[in-house]
Amino acid sequence: MCASVGATLASDVRKATTIMSDVLPVLTGTLVRLRPWRADDAPAIHAACQDPDIQRWTTVPVPYTPDDAEDFLARRVPDARARGGAAFAVEDLADRSLAGSTTLLQLVAGVGEIGYWVAPGARRRGLGADALATLASWAFAHAGAHRLELLIEPDNHASRALAARAGFVAEDLLPDRLLVRGERRDALSHVLLAP
Ligand SMILES: CC(C)(COP(=O)(O)OP(=O)(O)OC[C@H]1O[C@@H](n2cnc3c(N)ncnc32)[C@H](O)[C@@H]1OP(=O)(O)O)[C@@H](O)C(=O)NCCC(=O)NCCS
Repeated sequence: MCASVGATLASDVRKATTIMSDVLPVLTGTLVRLRPWRADDAPAIHAACQDPDIQRWTTVPVPYTPDDAEDFLARRVPDARARGGAAFAVEDLADRSLAGSTTLLQLVAGVGEIGYWVAPGARRRGLGADALATLASWAFAHAGAHRLELLIEPDNHASRALAARAGFVAEDLLPDRLLVRGERRDALSHVLLAP
């Protein structure tokens, strides 16, 4: 199924990929490389998003289908760009495999929100924190960001630890701040200000 979907979209997404590459740079961190998404990432996105933790803590559709991965590439990636943000694929520098996703979801008057996930097989090696720190540095230096926010559910200890590792500071508990598949959830805001 993944192969046939990829074949169907090949020409359209190749065009979109070229456009995305024109406007987004490749960012190199210590452990990861952030690059524009490509059409052939869809199967890896689909595989990663079967993970129960990604499904629990992010707003991805559940169940997550191959069409959802295609929709992410065709709609959500350009949507972030249209809102002043930027969506990057995260590659493990060691082997260039797709390790995760990190997205500046929007940027309004210098205030941005970032979301991320790391594929289960790539976790606990510092890749998520390096990806977040790399994206934040670029957003401050080149995208006009002044204040970057993460909205993390209080029980998401992995994400809170990652945020702290990347230099974000826990700020406020925001009741009902998140809408996750129709359900209101609390968020703990974490903030990093421009250096
Ligand atoms: C949260 C997530 C991105 C962490 O990615 P990661 O690459 O494993 O994180 P890192 O290896 O960079 O670890 C960063 C810090 O978090 C800690 N950490 C990572 N996973 C953890 C876990 N399950 N429990 C406790 N701490 C954890 C690490 O020990 C490290 O802390 P340290 O600097 O004190 O040693 C990953 O678990 C994930 O994708 N979760 C599901 C999706 C999600 O929650 N997205 C965020 C929504 S707000």
